[in-house]
Amino acid sequence: MRIAVVGTGYVGLVTGTCFADMGNDVWCVDIDRRKIDNLRRGVVPIFEPGLEEMVRRNAGQGRLRFTTDLAEALADAQFAFIAVGTPPDEDGSADLRHVLAVARQIGRLIDRHLVIVNKSTVPVATAARVRRAVRGELVRRRKGTVPFDVVSNPEFLKEGDAINDFARPDRIVVGCDSERAAGLMRQLYEPFVRNGHPLLVMDVASAELTKYAANAMLATRISFMNELSRLCERVGADIAQVRRGIGSDSRIGMPFLYAGLGYGGSCFPKDVKALVQTSRQHGLRPLILDAVEEVNRTQRAQFIAAILSRFRGAVRGRTFAVWGLAFKPQTDDMREAPAVDIIGALRKKGARLAVHDPVAMATARAVLGDRGIDYVPDAYDALRGADALLLLTEWHQFREPDFSRMKKLLKRPVIFDGRNQYDPAQLRQLGFTYHCIGRP
Ligand SMILES: NC(=O)c1ccc[n+]([C@@H]2O[C@H](COP(=O)([O-])OP(=O)(O)OC[C@H]3O[C@@H](n4cnc5c(N)ncnc54)[C@H](O)[C@@H]3O)[C@@H](O)[C@H]2O)c1
Repeated sequence: MRIAVVGTGYVGLVTGTCFADMGNDVWCVDIDRRKIDNLRRGVVPIFEPGLEEMVRRNAGQGRLRFTTDLAEALADAQFAFIAVGTPPDEDGSADLRHVLAVARQIGRLIDRHLVIVNKSTVPVATAARVRRAVRGELVRRRKGTVPFDVVSNPEFLKEGDAINDFARPDRIVVGCDSERAAGLMRQLYEPFVRNGHPLLVMDVASAELTKYAANAMLATRISFMNELSRLCERVGADIAQVRRGIGSDSRIGMPFLYAGLGYGGSCFPKDVKALVQTSRQHGLRPLILDAVEEVNRTQRAQFIAAILSRFRGAVRGRTFAVWGLAFKPQTDDMREAPAVDIIGALRKKGARLAVHDPVAMATARAVLGDRGIDYVPDAYDALRGADALLLLTEWHQFREPDFSRMKKLLKRPVIFDGRNQYDPAQLRQLGFTYHCIGRP
């Protein structure tokens, strides 16, 4: 089938590449010329395991092409996937500027049937706004009879495992009010549901809400565990044991049940905020979601407070080594990463930071700049002479480090572990002062 994917970021590039890999003809479109030029040369702008090889293979075989020209991509397309960003507006609601701009552009270009698919995470009623935007342009061109469908097809991939999530999804959600579009979507996604997982066709509003509901539920689990971790610290319980205890219940399950520095990234924070706003706009008080946000916000602040308290507030002139900058492992995405707040707060108090991340150094530098921060290519070199190590992202390589080497390099054997990676008893025995989350 012939597909245009508009917006070639984390979601657009993975979507386009996975469709091409199934034999479809795909154009990926972006307004960022540098990104498109790089992709044409096989340079993938993000870190996502397996993606670069797949992009090169499909581009090499002529099924995956890149352009800044939407007209070129739409020339014979059957589908246009909108996968542009929907960042939070000033009040937290989703900013639909990019989505609606693409919709208007599509309306200025099409002359025959097209299925327009909202892949971006967008609030309820966005499909209707996209439809109006496209229709408005068609009418202006006196082409009001050109048929098109607007479908909601939210994306559930997670960064770091995006290809696997896209190619073998737990489910595919299609919100649709036309049989024709539903049939085409089924045909397009048929190779992705051979694992027996469902393709769920539903009304558009339910599909749009499903995406927010999924992210809000996962964010709720994280904030729930973080709230419990605070109680654990007061009563001498261990949140890791509590997690084992409740996670083995099949009604609860283990994933997304970790206490730590709270959720970050490009989706949970903005999607929880957007759902809060949608609820407010409809006259509701989102009690649970307000609490989820509050716990998340204060979780980072508590971690910073613990560090300051250990040094009696005097961190000026001290150096902190940081392992991990990305909002989670296996990605270089720094959006809403706890590291940004934690490093920012310590720097403001006059501390220096020696930071290391296996893949996110460049993206981190773009966000944090150079003032007060040394970006150290080797994890152990970052420890040299530091007053403490802050573990902020749970990359695998930090799980079993060489503790005796660490102890020799650090000025003081102090670890603040925001991800509960180590065994408190073992670290005490090795002579470390070990601070973690919700464990005695
Ligand atoms: N990142 C994730 O893990 C994830 C997962 C599921 C859903 N989503 C949702 O998918 C959407 C995209 O997220 P992302 O992380 O891929 O964003 P991103 O910022 O990585 O990519 C968006 C891309 O769209 C491009 N763009 C903006 N306006 C454009 C236009 N008019 N024409 C062409 N290109 C344009 C930008 O240049 C950018 O490259 C968001 O709504 C997000 O909430 C993201």
